[in-house]
Amino acid sequence: MSISPFLIRHVRPTDPRPSEITPKAVFEGRREFLKVAAKTAAGAGAAAMAPGTMPAWAASEPARGQPIPNVAKWPRSATGKPTDYKLVTTYNNFYEFGLDKDEPALFSKDFKPRPWTVKIEGEIEKPGTYDLDDLIRPHALEERVYRFRCVEAWSMIVPWVGVPLGDVIKRLNPTAKAKYVAFETVYRPTEMPGQKLAVLKWPYVEGLRLDEAMHPLTLLTVGMYGEWLPNQNGAPVRLVMPWKYGFKSVKSVVRIVFTENRPVTSWNLSQPREYGFYANVNPAVDHPRWSQAKERRLGDAFFSPRQPTLPFNGYAEDVAQLYAGMDLAKLF
Ligand code: MTE
Repeated sequence: MSISPFLIRHVRPTDPRPSEITPKAVFEGRREFLKVAAKTAAGAGAAAMAPGTMPAWAASEPARGQPIPNVAKWPRSATGKPTDYKLVTTYNNFYEFGLDKDEPALFSKDFKPRPWTVKIEGEIEKPGTYDLDDLIRPHALEERVYRFRCVEAWSMIVPWVGVPLGDVIKRLNPTAKAKYVAFETVYRPTEMPGQKLAVLKWPYVEGLRLDEAMHPLTLLTVGMYGEWLPNQNGAPVRLVMPWKYGFKSVKSVVRIVFTENRPVTSWNLSQPREYGFYANVNPAVDHPRWSQAKERRLGDAFFSPRQPTLPFNGYAEDVAQLYAGMDLAKLF
């Protein structure tokens, strides 16, 4: 079945404008998912949720995480009011937990983000299986308010907490052959009911050029809104790259491989015409099925005017030189 991360939704007043009708195959995939998820929840002894009757949007305020101590404020944070916590944590994409935007919050409750190790492999002088805390501990945690833009033209302002990935990579010493970095999400179908369906080839994989991974804006993220990441937003560790569409920000990372050749990425593998390797936010290059020129802030009313999207999501001064001389319409 071929699907997109951005097709399925229940229309709510805050939703982006629907740009197409949900194909039958996707609709059926969603019904199938709900069956699997209900079985998983029952099997795990979790409170039973009847498929199709979950009032996610009307649910009470999502449970808050533990506060993170000793976080320094990054001086260059985006201005503007951060998007409401509830929206960011209950309307999002994490296909391992479901296809619809309210499902990651609903179906990730049994996921266990600790203890957590990350395997570091490939063209690197210090490979190994590292406890996440050991990777992070040498670095000062920072809160960085970034603009974040999803491919389906909604955007948000989120205070992320993390450390620059480049600082972590420097301590691992990539070899001269390392040109790219590949990332892999954990594969745990018993805790991630979406992985029981072949909507994507699991595990979810992403990749960056080494210079993108080393760029000071690339954040190895462990928290948001001053708290450890909730499961649905990629606990316990994910990427955030504010100049790229959201799908590059791979969640729940367990493996990082330094490579000579360009790695495959989940969405490029699944739909190469629609999702390229670079995925830089670019208002001049339309997605084949919709324009990318404007965006709607998550939380804005359906009828409110959309904002123009900025090249590289407003971070052009920082990152445009990484792509100097490249034809960004072809290398999208
Ligand atoms: N990572 C994994 N493992 N699985 C996913 O389905 N979805 C991506 C990205 N990372 C996804 C993922 C997409 S499409 C988006 S828009 C962002 O996560 C959403 O991040 P958010 O939940 O913080 O909004």
